[in-house]
Amino acid sequence: MEKMKVTPWEVEGNINYEKLIKEFGTTPISKQIYEELKDCHPLLRRGLYFSHRDFDKWLKAHNDGKKVSVITGRGPSEKMHIGHLIPFLVAKSLQDKFNCDVYIPISDDEKFFIKENLTIKDAIEFSQDNILDLIALGFNPKKTFIFEDFIHTDIYKYAAQIAKRITYSVAKATFGLTPEKNIGWSFYPAMQAAHILFPQFHSKKHISVVPVGIDQDPFIRLTRDIATHNDINLEKPAALHAKFIPSLHGSAKMSSSGIGVILLSDDPKTVKKKINKYAFSGGQKTTEEHRQKGGNTDVDVSFQYLKYLFEPSDEKLENIKQKYESGEMLTGELKAILIEKINAFLKEHQKKKEEAKKNLDKFILKN
Ligand code: TYM
Repeated sequence: MEKMKVTPWEVEGNINYEKLIKEFGTTPISKQIYEELKDCHPLLRRGLYFSHRDFDKWLKAHNDGKKVSVITGRGPSEKMHIGHLIPFLVAKSLQDKFNCDVYIPISDDEKFFIKENLTIKDAIEFSQDNILDLIALGFNPKKTFIFEDFIHTDIYKYAAQIAKRITYSVAKATFGLTPEKNIGWSFYPAMQAAHILFPQFHSKKHISVVPVGIDQDPFIRLTRDIATHNDINLEKPAALHAKFIPSLHGSAKMSSSGIGVILLSDDPKTVKKKINKYAFSGGQKTTEEHRQKGGNTDVDVSFQYLKYLFEPSDEKLENIKQKYESGEMLTGELKAILIEKINAFLKEHQKKKEEAKKNLDKFILKN
Protein backbone atom coordinates (compact mmCIF):
# COMPACT_ATOMS: atom_id res chain seq x y z
CA MET A 1 0.00 0.00 0.00
CA GLU A 2 1.26 3.51 -0.89
CA LYS A 3 2.65 5.34 2.16
CA MET A 4 0.50 8.21 3.49
CA LYS A 5 1.98 11.67 2.92
CA VAL A 6 0.13 14.86 3.87
CA THR A 7 1.91 18.20 3.47
CA PRO A 8 0.58 21.55 2.17
CA TRP A 9 2.11 20.71 -1.20
CA GLU A 10 1.73 16.94 -1.50
CA VAL A 11 -0.99 14.48 -0.57
CA GLU A 12 -0.39 10.81 -1.36
CA GLY A 13 -1.47 7.32 -0.37
CA ASN A 14 -4.43 6.13 1.63
CA ILE A 15 -5.18 8.72 4.26
CA ASN A 16 -5.69 7.52 7.80
CA TYR A 17 -7.38 10.50 9.44
CA GLU A 18 -7.25 9.10 12.96
CA LYS A 19 -3.50 8.70 12.63
CA LEU A 20 -3.24 12.30 11.39
CA ILE A 21 -5.06 13.54 14.50
CA LYS A 22 -2.38 11.80 16.58
CA GLU A 23 0.56 12.87 14.42
CA PHE A 24 -0.51 16.52 14.20
CA GLY A 25 -1.73 16.65 17.82
CA THR A 26 -5.22 17.94 16.97
CA THR A 27 -8.56 17.15 18.65
CA PRO A 28 -11.45 15.15 17.16
CA ILE A 29 -14.64 17.21 16.79
CA SER A 30 -16.94 16.34 19.69
CA LYS A 31 -20.67 15.55 19.51
CA GLN A 32 -21.32 18.81 21.33
CA ILE A 33 -19.56 20.84 18.62
CA TYR A 34 -21.39 18.96 15.83
CA GLU A 35 -24.60 19.72 17.68
CA GLU A 36 -23.81 23.46 17.80
CA LEU A 37 -23.15 23.43 14.08
CA LYS A 38 -26.13 21.30 13.06
CA ASP A 39 -27.86 24.10 11.15
CA CYS A 40 -24.66 25.09 9.29
CA HIS A 41 -23.61 23.70 5.89
CA PRO A 42 -24.37 19.93 5.76
CA LEU A 43 -20.73 19.03 5.16
CA LEU A 44 -20.06 20.07 8.76
CA ARG A 45 -22.67 17.86 10.39
CA ARG A 46 -22.02 14.99 7.94
CA GLY A 47 -18.48 14.59 9.21
CA LEU A 48 -16.25 15.93 6.41
CA TYR A 49 -14.83 18.19 9.13
CA PHE A 50 -13.32 15.77 11.62
CA SER A 51 -10.72 17.60 13.70
CA HIS A 52 -10.04 21.00 15.26
CA ARG A 53 -7.80 23.14 17.42
CA ASP A 54 -9.49 25.29 20.08
CA PHE A 55 -12.76 25.60 18.16
CA ASP A 56 -14.55 25.10 21.49
CA LYS A 57 -12.79 28.28 22.69
CA TRP A 58 -13.93 30.13 19.55
CA LEU A 59 -17.54 29.09 20.20
CA LYS A 60 -17.27 30.05 23.86
CA ALA A 61 -15.83 33.49 22.96
CA HIS A 62 -18.80 34.02 20.64
CA ASN A 63 -21.29 32.82 23.23
CA ASP A 64 -19.69 35.20 25.78
CA GLY A 65 -20.39 38.08 23.39
CA LYS A 66 -16.74 38.52 22.37
CA LYS A 67 -15.52 39.28 18.85
CA VAL A 68 -14.65 36.24 16.71
CA SER A 69 -13.71 35.97 13.03
CA VAL A 70 -12.94 33.47 10.26
CA ILE A 71 -9.92 33.42 7.96
CA THR A 72 -9.17 31.03 5.13
CA GLY A 73 -7.24 31.44 1.89
CA ARG A 74 -6.65 30.24 -1.64
CA GLY A 75 -3.45 29.63 -3.59
CA PRO A 76 -4.33 30.60 -7.18
CA SER A 77 -2.37 28.31 -9.50
CA GLU A 78 -5.29 27.19 -11.66
CA LYS A 79 -9.00 27.54 -12.15
CA MET A 80 -10.85 26.33 -9.05
CA HIS A 81 -12.39 22.88 -8.66
CA ILE A 82 -15.22 21.76 -6.37
CA GLY A 83 -12.80 20.51 -3.66
CA HIS A 84 -11.41 24.03 -3.23
CA LEU A 85 -14.87 25.23 -2.19
CA ILE A 86 -14.96 23.23 1.03
CA PRO A 87 -13.34 25.72 3.47
CA PHE A 88 -15.11 28.66 1.84
CA LEU A 89 -18.56 27.06 2.13
CA VAL A 90 -17.84 26.64 5.82
CA ALA A 91 -16.54 30.22 6.16
CA LYS A 92 -19.75 31.50 4.56
CA SER A 93 -21.88 29.28 6.75
CA LEU A 94 -20.10 30.49 9.93
CA GLN A 95 -20.54 34.09 8.77
CA ASP A 96 -24.28 33.51 8.29
CA LYS A 97 -24.72 31.83 11.66
CA PHE A 98 -22.38 33.91 13.84
CA ASN A 99 -22.54 37.20 11.90
CA CYS A 100 -18.74 37.46 11.90
CA ASP A 101 -16.05 38.93 9.65
CA VAL A 102 -14.39 36.67 7.08
CA TYR A 103 -10.88 37.32 5.74
CA ILE A 104 -9.75 35.70 2.48
CA PRO A 105 -6.05 36.03 1.59
CA ILE A 106 -4.97 34.98 -1.91
CA SER A 107 -1.42 33.59 -1.92
CA ASP A 108 -0.34 34.31 -5.50
CA ASP A 109 3.26 34.51 -4.22
CA GLU A 110 3.04 30.95 -2.79
CA LYS A 111 2.03 29.48 -6.12
CA PHE A 112 4.61 31.58 -7.96
CA PHE A 113 7.42 30.13 -5.78
CA ILE A 114 6.14 26.59 -5.97
CA LYS A 115 5.05 26.11 -9.58
CA GLU A 116 8.13 26.12 -11.76
CA ASN A 117 6.37 27.45 -14.87
CA LEU A 118 3.89 29.88 -13.34
CA THR A 119 4.71 33.53 -14.12
CA ILE A 120 3.72 36.44 -11.88
CA LYS A 121 1.28 37.51 -14.60
CA ASP A 122 -0.39 34.06 -14.62
CA ALA A 123 -0.62 34.01 -10.83
CA ILE A 124 -2.32 37.41 -10.78
CA GLU A 125 -4.70 36.36 -13.56
CA PHE A 126 -5.70 33.20 -11.71
CA SER A 127 -6.18 35.31 -8.56
CA GLN A 128 -8.60 37.62 -10.35
CA ASP A 129 -10.55 34.64 -11.70
CA ASN A 130 -10.58 32.73 -8.38
CA ILE A 131 -11.66 35.81 -6.39
CA LEU A 132 -14.81 36.01 -8.54
CA ASP A 133 -15.54 32.33 -7.78
CA LEU A 134 -15.25 33.11 -4.07
CA ILE A 135 -17.45 36.21 -4.16
CA ALA A 136 -20.03 34.14 -6.08
CA LEU A 137 -20.54 32.02 -2.93
CA GLY A 138 -22.54 34.89 -1.45
CA PHE A 139 -20.35 36.38 1.30
CA ASN A 140 -21.58 39.54 3.03
CA PRO A 141 -19.69 42.44 1.36
CA LYS A 142 -19.75 44.48 4.57
CA LYS A 143 -18.04 41.74 6.54
CA THR A 144 -15.71 40.10 4.03
CA PHE A 145 -12.17 41.22 3.20
CA ILE A 146 -10.25 39.74 0.28
CA PHE A 147 -6.63 40.56 -0.47
CA GLU A 148 -3.85 39.35 -2.73
CA ASP A 149 -0.23 39.16 -1.56
CA PHE A 150 1.28 40.74 -4.70
CA ILE A 151 -1.19 43.64 -4.49
CA HIS A 152 -2.04 44.17 -0.83
CA THR A 153 1.60 44.81 0.04
CA ASP A 154 0.73 45.96 3.60
CA ILE A 155 0.85 42.28 4.50
CA TYR A 156 4.64 42.36 4.11
CA LYS A 157 5.28 44.25 7.32
CA TYR A 158 3.30 41.68 9.31
CA ALA A 159 5.08 38.82 7.55
CA ALA A 160 8.44 40.41 8.35
CA GLN A 161 7.55 40.61 12.06
CA ILE A 162 6.73 36.92 11.95
CA ALA A 163 9.69 35.87 9.79
CA LYS A 164 11.99 37.33 12.45
CA ARG A 165 10.56 34.84 14.96
CA ILE A 166 10.81 31.70 12.78
CA THR A 167 14.21 30.06 12.60
CA TYR A 168 15.28 28.31 9.42
CA SER A 169 15.49 24.99 11.26
CA VAL A 170 11.85 25.28 12.41
CA ALA A 171 10.68 26.09 8.87
CA LYS A 172 12.74 23.21 7.51
CA ALA A 173 11.35 20.72 10.01
CA THR A 174 7.73 21.93 9.72
CA PHE A 175 7.61 21.97 5.93
CA GLY A 176 10.21 19.34 5.03
CA LEU A 177 12.23 21.91 3.05
CA THR A 178 15.11 20.42 1.03
CA PRO A 179 18.28 22.19 -0.16
CA GLU A 180 17.31 22.43 -3.84
CA LYS A 181 14.13 24.45 -3.11
CA ASN A 182 14.22 28.15 -3.94
CA ILE A 183 14.27 30.38 -0.85
CA GLY A 184 10.72 31.59 -1.59
CA TRP A 185 9.58 28.29 -0.02
CA SER A 186 11.36 29.19 3.22
CA PHE A 187 9.92 32.70 3.45
CA TYR A 188 6.36 31.92 2.36
CA PRO A 189 5.31 30.31 5.72
CA ALA A 190 5.77 33.78 7.30
CA MET A 191 3.28 35.15 4.75
CA GLN A 192 0.67 32.48 5.50
CA ALA A 193 1.17 33.00 9.25
CA ALA A 194 0.61 36.74 8.63
CA HIS A 195 -2.63 35.84 6.78
CA ILE A 196 -3.78 33.74 9.71
CA LEU A 197 -3.08 36.53 12.20
CA PHE A 198 -4.30 39.26 9.83
CA PRO A 199 -7.81 39.57 11.35
CA GLN A 200 -6.12 40.54 14.62
CA PHE A 201 -3.57 42.91 13.01
CA HIS A 202 -6.44 44.50 11.07
CA SER A 203 -8.91 44.84 13.92
CA LYS A 204 -7.90 43.91 17.50
CA LYS A 205 -6.73 40.92 19.51
CA HIS A 206 -9.42 38.20 19.29
CA ILE A 207 -9.85 34.55 18.37
CA SER A 208 -10.11 33.65 14.69
CA VAL A 209 -10.85 30.23 13.26
CA VAL A 210 -9.20 28.81 10.14
CA PRO A 211 -11.34 26.24 8.29
CA VAL A 212 -8.97 24.29 5.99
CA GLY A 213 -8.14 20.92 4.51
CA ILE A 214 -5.93 19.07 7.01
CA ASP A 215 -2.96 19.52 4.60
CA GLN A 216 -2.75 23.16 5.70
CA ASP A 217 -2.34 22.38 9.42
CA PRO A 218 1.48 22.81 9.51
CA PHE A 219 0.90 26.53 8.86
CA ILE A 220 -1.55 26.69 11.73
CA ARG A 221 0.81 24.91 14.12
CA LEU A 222 3.58 27.33 13.24
CA THR A 223 1.31 30.36 13.62
CA ARG A 224 0.01 29.20 17.00
CA ASP A 225 3.58 28.82 18.22
CA ILE A 226 4.54 32.41 17.42
CA ALA A 227 1.20 34.22 18.00
CA THR A 228 1.81 34.73 21.70
CA HIS A 229 5.47 35.78 21.36
CA ASN A 230 6.14 38.98 23.34
CA ASP A 231 6.47 41.36 20.42
CA ILE A 232 3.49 39.86 18.54
CA ASN A 233 1.18 39.34 21.52
CA LEU A 234 -1.93 37.98 19.78
CA GLU A 235 -4.37 35.12 20.43
CA LYS A 236 -3.61 31.66 19.13
CA PRO A 237 -5.88 30.98 16.13
CA ALA A 238 -8.37 28.09 16.23
CA ALA A 239 -8.75 25.64 13.33
CA LEU A 240 -11.33 23.34 11.78
CA HIS A 241 -9.87 20.57 9.62
CA ALA A 242 -11.58 18.85 6.69
CA LYS A 243 -10.91 15.48 5.15
CA PHE A 244 -10.32 15.57 1.41
CA ILE A 245 -12.96 15.30 -1.27
CA PRO A 246 -11.70 12.47 -3.52
CA SER A 247 -10.90 12.87 -7.22
CA LEU A 248 -13.38 11.34 -9.67
CA HIS A 249 -11.17 8.25 -9.83
CA GLY A 250 -11.37 7.89 -6.06
CA SER A 251 -7.78 8.90 -5.19
CA ALA A 252 -7.43 10.56 -1.78
CA LYS A 253 -7.58 14.23 -2.80
CA MET A 254 -9.15 16.02 -5.74
CA SER A 255 -6.20 18.11 -6.89
CA SER A 256 -5.66 20.56 -9.75
CA SER A 257 -2.45 18.81 -10.73
CA GLY A 258 -4.23 15.48 -11.13
CA ILE A 259 -6.88 14.28 -13.53
CA GLY A 260 -10.44 13.69 -12.39
CA VAL A 261 -11.52 17.13 -11.24
CA ILE A 262 -14.82 18.94 -11.71
CA LEU A 263 -13.97 22.57 -12.41
CA LEU A 264 -16.30 25.40 -11.43
CA SER A 265 -16.07 26.51 -15.07
CA ASP A 266 -17.11 23.12 -16.57
CA ASP A 267 -20.13 23.15 -18.91
CA PRO A 268 -23.02 20.66 -18.54
CA LYS A 269 -21.77 18.32 -21.29
CA THR A 270 -18.29 18.12 -19.78
CA VAL A 271 -19.71 17.37 -16.33
CA LYS A 272 -21.90 14.60 -17.75
CA LYS A 273 -18.98 13.09 -19.65
CA LYS A 274 -16.58 13.25 -16.70
CA ILE A 275 -19.01 11.71 -14.22
CA ASN A 276 -20.23 8.97 -16.55
CA LYS A 277 -16.75 8.06 -17.69
CA TYR A 278 -14.61 8.48 -14.58
CA ALA A 279 -16.60 8.68 -11.32
CA PHE A 280 -15.46 5.66 -9.31
CA SER A 281 -18.44 3.42 -8.64
CA GLY A 282 -19.26 1.45 -5.51
CA GLY A 283 -21.64 -0.65 -7.59
CA GLN A 284 -21.27 -4.29 -8.66
CA LYS A 285 -19.91 -5.52 -11.99
CA THR A 286 -23.21 -6.64 -13.51
CA THR A 287 -26.76 -5.36 -13.07
CA GLU A 288 -27.79 -8.77 -11.77
CA GLU A 289 -25.09 -8.81 -9.12
CA HIS A 290 -25.87 -5.21 -8.18
CA ARG A 291 -29.58 -6.01 -7.70
CA GLN A 292 -28.56 -8.86 -5.39
CA LYS A 293 -25.74 -7.32 -3.38
CA GLY A 294 -26.32 -3.56 -3.70
CA GLY A 295 -23.69 -0.82 -3.93
CA ASN A 296 -21.13 0.47 -1.43
CA THR A 297 -21.78 4.16 -0.62
CA ASP A 298 -18.56 4.42 1.44
CA VAL A 299 -16.39 4.22 -1.68
CA ASP A 300 -18.79 5.48 -4.34
CA VAL A 301 -17.47 8.87 -5.46
CA SER A 302 -20.84 10.11 -6.80
CA PHE A 303 -22.43 9.39 -3.43
CA GLN A 304 -19.59 11.22 -1.61
CA TYR A 305 -20.11 14.33 -3.77
CA LEU A 306 -23.86 14.26 -3.08
CA LYS A 307 -23.28 13.75 0.63
CA TYR A 308 -20.79 16.56 1.13
CA LEU A 309 -21.68 19.09 -1.53
CA PHE A 310 -24.78 18.62 -3.60
CA GLU A 311 -27.70 17.08 -1.63
CA PRO A 312 -28.63 19.34 1.29
CA SER A 313 -31.70 17.32 2.34
CA ASP A 314 -30.86 14.60 4.91
CA GLU A 315 -34.06 12.79 4.02
CA LYS A 316 -33.32 12.65 0.29
CA LEU A 317 -29.74 11.59 0.91
CA GLU A 318 -30.89 8.76 3.18
CA ASN A 319 -33.36 7.65 0.56
CA ILE A 320 -30.64 7.50 -2.12
CA LYS A 321 -28.34 5.63 0.27
CA GLN A 322 -30.96 3.00 1.06
CA LYS A 323 -31.92 2.47 -2.56
CA TYR A 324 -28.31 2.22 -3.73
CA GLU A 325 -27.21 -0.08 -0.93
CA SER A 326 -30.21 -2.37 -1.43
CA GLY A 327 -29.54 -2.63 -5.18
CA GLU A 328 -32.79 -0.92 -6.16
CA MET A 329 -30.81 2.02 -7.61
CA LEU A 330 -28.12 1.37 -10.23
CA THR A 331 -24.85 3.29 -10.63
CA GLY A 332 -26.13 4.96 -13.81
CA GLU A 333 -29.18 6.27 -11.93
CA LEU A 334 -27.06 7.56 -9.06
CA LYS A 335 -24.74 9.30 -11.52
CA ALA A 336 -27.72 10.88 -13.30
CA ILE A 337 -28.89 12.42 -10.00
CA LEU A 338 -25.41 13.81 -9.35
CA ILE A 339 -25.00 15.19 -12.89
CA GLU A 340 -28.28 17.06 -12.60
CA LYS A 341 -27.36 18.48 -9.17
CA ILE A 342 -23.84 19.58 -10.19
CA ASN A 343 -25.09 21.18 -13.38
CA ALA A 344 -27.82 23.10 -11.53
CA PHE A 345 -25.21 24.30 -9.00
CA LEU A 346 -22.69 25.30 -11.70
CA LYS A 347 -25.30 27.13 -13.77
CA GLU A 348 -26.18 29.30 -10.78
CA HIS A 349 -22.53 29.64 -9.74
CA GLN A 350 -21.39 30.78 -13.18
CA LYS A 351 -24.20 33.35 -13.29
CA LYS A 352 -23.24 34.69 -9.85
CA LYS A 353 -19.56 34.75 -10.87
CA GLU A 354 -20.47 37.00 -13.80
CA GLU A 355 -22.45 39.28 -11.47
CA ALA A 356 -19.54 39.32 -8.98
CA LYS A 357 -17.51 41.42 -11.46
CA LYS A 358 -19.75 44.38 -10.62
CA ASN A 359 -19.22 43.93 -6.86
CA LEU A 360 -15.51 43.22 -6.81
CA ASP A 361 -14.60 46.58 -5.26
CA LYS A 362 -16.83 45.97 -2.24
CA PHE A 363 -14.72 42.98 -1.23
CA ILE A 364 -11.13 43.96 -2.00
CA LEU A 365 -9.18 45.32 0.93
CA LYS A 366 -7.20 48.44 0.04
CA ASN A 367 -3.62 49.08 1.17
P1 TYM B 1 -5.33 25.75 -1.97
O1 TYM B 1 -5.61 26.90 -2.85
O2 TYM B 1 -4.48 24.63 -2.50
O3 TYM B 1 -6.68 25.13 -1.48
C1 TYM B 1 -7.68 25.93 -0.88
C2 TYM B 1 -8.31 25.19 0.26
O4 TYM B 1 -9.01 24.06 -0.24
C3 TYM B 1 -8.61 22.89 0.46
N1 TYM B 1 -8.70 21.78 -0.51
C4 TYM B 1 -9.48 20.72 -0.33
N2 TYM B 1 -10.31 20.39 0.68
C5 TYM B 1 -10.96 19.22 0.60
N3 TYM B 1 -10.84 18.38 -0.47
C6 TYM B 1 -10.02 18.67 -1.51
N4 TYM B 1 -9.90 17.82 -2.53
C7 TYM B 1 -9.29 19.89 -1.47
N5 TYM B 1 -8.40 20.51 -2.31
C8 TYM B 1 -8.06 21.66 -1.70
C9 TYM B 1 -7.20 23.17 0.95
O5 TYM B 1 -6.89 22.37 2.06
C10 TYM B 1 -7.30 24.64 1.31
O6 TYM B 1 -7.84 24.80 2.61
N6 TYM B 1 -1.83 27.78 1.06
C11 TYM B 1 -3.25 27.63 0.81
C12 TYM B 1 -3.98 28.96 0.62
C13 TYM B 1 -3.86 29.92 1.77
C14 TYM B 1 -4.44 29.78 3.07
C15 TYM B 1 -4.04 30.96 3.78
C16 TYM B 1 -5.24 28.82 3.69
C17 TYM B 1 -3.18 31.11 1.73
N7 TYM B 1 -3.30 31.72 2.94
C18 TYM B 1 -4.42 31.17 5.11
C19 TYM B 1 -5.61 29.05 5.03
C20 TYM B 1 -5.21 30.19 5.71
C21 TYM B 1 -3.46 26.80 -0.46
O7 TYM B 1 -2.60 26.74 -1.33
O8 TYM B 1 -4.73 26.27 -0.58
